[in-house]
Amino acid sequence: MKQHYRVAVARQFGAPEVISIENHPVQPLAAGEVRVAVRAAGQNPVDARRRAGNFGGQVPLVFGTEFSGIVHESKDPGWAAGDEVVGWGAVGADADLVLTSGDKLAAKPKELPWAVAGGLSGAGQTSLAALAALELQPGDVILVHAAAGGVGSMLVQLAMHQGLVVIGTAGTGNQEYLRQLGVLPVVYGPGLSERVAQAAGGRAIAASIDLAGSMEAGDLARELVSGGAQCITLVPETWQSHGLPLVSVRASAQRFAELMRSYRDGGLQLQVNTLEFNDVVKAHRQMDAKHSRGKLVLEMSDNPYLANSGDAA
Ligand SMILES: NC(=O)c1ccc[n+]([C@@H]2O[C@H](COP(=O)([O-])OP(=O)(O)OC[C@H]3O[C@@H](n4cnc5c(N)ncnc54)[C@H](OP(=O)(O)O)[C@@H]3O)[C@@H](O)[C@H]2O)c1
Repeated sequence: MKQHYRVAVARQFGAPEVISIENHPVQPLAAGEVRVAVRAAGQNPVDARRRAGNFGGQVPLVFGTEFSGIVHESKDPGWAAGDEVVGWGAVGADADLVLTSGDKLAAKPKELPWAVAGGLSGAGQTSLAALAALELQPGDVILVHAAAGGVGSMLVQLAMHQGLVVIGTAGTGNQEYLRQLGVLPVVYGPGLSERVAQAAGGRAIAASIDLAGSMEAGDLARELVSGGAQCITLVPETWQSHGLPLVSVRASAQRFAELMRSYRDGGLQLQVNTLEFNDVVKAHRQMDAKHSRGKLVLEMSDNPYLANSGDAA
């Protein structure tokens, strides 16, 4: 009898409720392919945009680009069944099984819990790419919009590890969280420019990185650019509204290794908030609300393909 696996699918664009979990047959592997049993799948707002129909593409859609898991079957000589891995750049990782290629996998560092490993790679590699797009010196002051979210939480820590001083924006409920990370916290909303100047304490802002996509983030970037700052965005909104340079991220095993070095050397932390796979609709509702603190991750602990995989639970 053909084996099946669960996968989150949207057969039309719309609200989170368009997503359902379907059973699909397991297809034979082609040369070079690796099939991984997913243990944790990091959630990324781009999937909420795709689901809503704001990011092109065609239905049916599957979701999930990053994950941690255990190789189930491999036709890539670099990987074997039972290997514990972290993956990125995948299509359809919100599933029991995901098909990928060996160059989009790295060995899962033993010390990383499954949920952290599932959510670290996208946010971390994005953060490194953003920092690499800027010319900065230790001691420079940078501004990060939406500093308390999945990417922001990693980005601010990686920036501080590089010796930068970070001012981060968040709502009132996340000011203490940012302070604990070592960030100079600022509440977003009217008067942002003055509060940022106050937090900078007379120092120039060398760069701003927009993860919020708000009009005020774009407006402030224009103001800062006129004062000589480098201002970039990681979101399409302020690229479209204000023409901010949009950083596109090329994830790689090399960048993952760089991320892990900084993570270990810098004693970085990633706060993860987990939901079960059956709560994938809820995960999309949370992404739509845009108030996650740290990284949202789907836990696949009930994945039947992990059953014989030792310490995967
Ligand atoms: N270019 C790329 O390759 C790339 C890669 C990854 C991610 N991204 C994009 O980067 C963005 C951030 O991703 P993420 O995973 O970090 O998102 P996220 O975790 O959903 O971000 C949530 C955070 O946004 C904050 N926030 C909401 N409205 C805000 C505002 N007006 N000003 C400042 N902060 C605000 C929230 O703070 P409060 O709860 O305190 O309000 C919350 O902590 C997304 O749009 C994502 O698509 C781009």
